[in-house]
Amino acid sequence: MKIIHDKQAMRVWAIAEKAKGRSIGFVPTMGALHEGHASLVRAAVERDDVTVASVFVNPTQFAPHEDLDSYPRTFEEDCALLEKLGVDIVYAPDPESMYPKGYATYVTVEGVSEGLCSLTRPHFFRGVATVVTKLFCTVLPDRAYFGQKDAQQCAIIKRMAEDLDLAVEIVEMPIIRETDGLAMSSRNRYLSAEERQKALNISAALRRAQAMLAAGERDGAAIVNAVREGMAPLDIDYVVLVDARTMVPVDRICGEVLLAVAANMGSARLIDNIKFAVPQDNEAALEMTAKENVPCC
Ligand code: PAF
Repeated sequence: MKIIHDKQAMRVWAIAEKAKGRSIGFVPTMGALHEGHASLVRAAVERDDVTVASVFVNPTQFAPHEDLDSYPRTFEEDCALLEKLGVDIVYAPDPESMYPKGYATYVTVEGVSEGLCSLTRPHFFRGVATVVTKLFCTVLPDRAYFGQKDAQQCAIIKRMAEDLDLAVEIVEMPIIRETDGLAMSSRNRYLSAEERQKALNISAALRRAQAMLAAGERDGAAIVNAVREGMAPLDIDYVVLVDARTMVPVDRICGEVLLAVAANMGSARLIDNIKFAVPQDNEAALEMTAKENVPCC
């Protein structure tokens, strides 16, 4: 495995691989890797000829009051894991080369970026869309892998790839959970033991929603209220039912729907979701696309 810091060297490597007819799988990360990232890397290694993982804590997706300086940085451990998983290149540019003095260009994805996480983090998705575009321009991936835990981020990147003709397939991979149900996140390490325990209300509330759906409930408000009730011990940011592709709120469950939640917990912000599809012509035939995602425990 090679570690590349330099943009030009990264692009030269990618062009050479493409000239050999090899497909490039790409997993963008901010490091502090966990099993969720590992699942994305495994998928890329299995599916693509060569795999690149980036490790870059992207300053433009943090507001001044957020945790950019204290965001966990575990580069050596990350590289050891990536090597074990079969990654070919770790791309780790430095912030000064990504955003040199005079940097002035940002990518904004309208519509799908509005609502949910944008309401409390209005800067966030512009930073994500910008850095992902820049990384794509350097790594030249055929496929890029993202986790469903960041469902709004996935929807935005899919929209952006389509709108900007980026010629990269965006692969969305299922949420990976701890054995007790908590969705894995680099920020879970901020939780105290007590907060960690309290956070389990989130996955428990989503399991309750799943049970209601399986029993035939199709009223959005009934489901949202039940989830809010289950998350009551937490400082809830949002509980919403939206169209999974556009992030537009829905009242009744029909088509591909995302039930997404966010809560603040000490210095951590936890997000989680489930996705499900109810065929428009036959609501009874509920297909839970994320069936195994919220385990019974
Ligand atoms: O999901 C993340 O870790 C980040 O938002 C990403 C996609 C690596 C961009 O910095």
